[in-house]
Amino acid sequence: MPYLLGIDIGTSGTKALLVEETGRVVASAYKEYPLSQPRPGWAEQDPEEWWRAVVEAAREVLARSGLAGGDVAGVGLSGQMHGAVVLDANYRVLRPAILWCDQRTGAECAWMYEEIGQEKLYRWTGNPVLPGFTAPKLVWLKRHEPETYSRIRHVLLPKDYIRFRLTGELATEVSDASGTLLLDVTHRCWSGEILAAMGLPEEWLPRVYESPEVTGRITPEAAALTGLMAGTPVVGGGGDQAAGAIGTGVVVEGIISTALGTSGVVFAMTDRPHTQPGSALHSFCHAVPGKWHLMGVMLAAGGSLQWFRNQLGSEEVREAAVKNIDPYEMLTEQAAEVGTGAGGLLFLPYLLGERTPYPDPAARGAFIGLTMRHRKGHLVRAVMEGVAFGLRDSLELLRQAGVKVEEIRVSGGGARSPLWRHILASTFKYPITTVNSTDGPAFGAALLAGVGAGIYPSVEEACRLTIKVTSRVEPIAPETDAYDRLYEIYKSLYPLLRDTMHDLTKFTE
Ligand code: XUL
Repeated sequence: MPYLLGIDIGTSGTKALLVEETGRVVASAYKEYPLSQPRPGWAEQDPEEWWRAVVEAAREVLARSGLAGGDVAGVGLSGQMHGAVVLDANYRVLRPAILWCDQRTGAECAWMYEEIGQEKLYRWTGNPVLPGFTAPKLVWLKRHEPETYSRIRHVLLPKDYIRFRLTGELATEVSDASGTLLLDVTHRCWSGEILAAMGLPEEWLPRVYESPEVTGRITPEAAALTGLMAGTPVVGGGGDQAAGAIGTGVVVEGIISTALGTSGVVFAMTDRPHTQPGSALHSFCHAVPGKWHLMGVMLAAGGSLQWFRNQLGSEEVREAAVKNIDPYEMLTEQAAEVGTGAGGLLFLPYLLGERTPYPDPAARGAFIGLTMRHRKGHLVRAVMEGVAFGLRDSLELLRQAGVKVEEIRVSGGGARSPLWRHILASTFKYPITTVNSTDGPAFGAALLAGVGAGIYPSVEEACRLTIKVTSRVEPIAPETDAYDRLYEIYKSLYPLLRDTMHDLTKFTE
């Protein structure tokens, strides 16, 4: 039987996943690496760390499964999007990669709006200019590191750098390339207009493929290091969001997804490009050929609860270690004991600034409505509900854009919490489902490899054969009313507090 390997180059680590053609996961391996934050708001990683993790994870997943490299019919890559990896003429990495969550480029984004103008930016790329995207990072390098900039000959996204190390090919695919702000999303090719306006040579950019297309083959050197077989095809793959959507079967209209990882994403497939000047939604190519997607990205979703656990949950962390259970279970149990609306306590989840619906690196988090009555359970519940309200902001934008919504599939670490799924169902007012595959992007990348290797006739068919709904939570009527009321209050808070948040940000600078 042929096996498929999906590799997801994430922000905290790399996952390698071996999958049978039926969709059964045979083995997985995960290797972590650090995130460097040399200054507040900066986020960088050494691409060599990714490569080391990929080599180790590939070897380990093969060893765990007992399979040989020759059993793998195809490799698919997925990864953190938007990161800028810059190489010189000899393909050497010039500096650490600047990542998706790096917020240093506020002035460069403003420069792009002033110099090029919002109307042209939307017309050429279909998207707003956001600090995390790749293009403003290149402007930053030109302004702040001119010596490095003068030596750039190639610009790659994180997973595409790994492709280069595996196959020797400089290539990308449409879904990840959409997040550079250099792609003409409508025509699925680099935008000559924006490249000219920014003075960027097209030769710096890799060739663009559709996501299931074969982009190269494992080289003998990479084979010796990873245990894979030389000549194994490597397909385009996808940015982690598009690949994750494939991994949860979001390949038809009506089924939308929400991913509750560190960040939170609401994602909908569309049959046509959907660019809306002024919208904070991302309008990108899907990893399904000939399809697009719209998405809203919240920067601290699961990240907000993780912050709470780390800073205010040490008691639960200690006790959970003794009982050998997950500390999140202990925290969410307390949240389940307090009712809907956390006793009138609201949480604004802007702990990392925000992207959708407020593209604002200086947005800040808050608890609002605290009284002496509130216990820890209220705080936890407020965090979970605040994240749900923030995601509803994106859902409302999708609905305003005319997207059809029938079912919302939730994935990521936060999806493991029954309470969070319940809160999401009643906040969104749609059924929340989960599916059998819980490996999101790595699983989607493996399915794309299966299409490229000729095992499945199409991405849609690969999903139909391998992905099944395993749970469904319905919205509950009285709760939906309470959440509607609270959501109105939540929505009023950012506009009211924006200036205060900015003053506080300036104070810390
Ligand atoms: C998507 C995005 C994140 C990163 C990191 O636009 O910024 O999903 O890809 O996971």
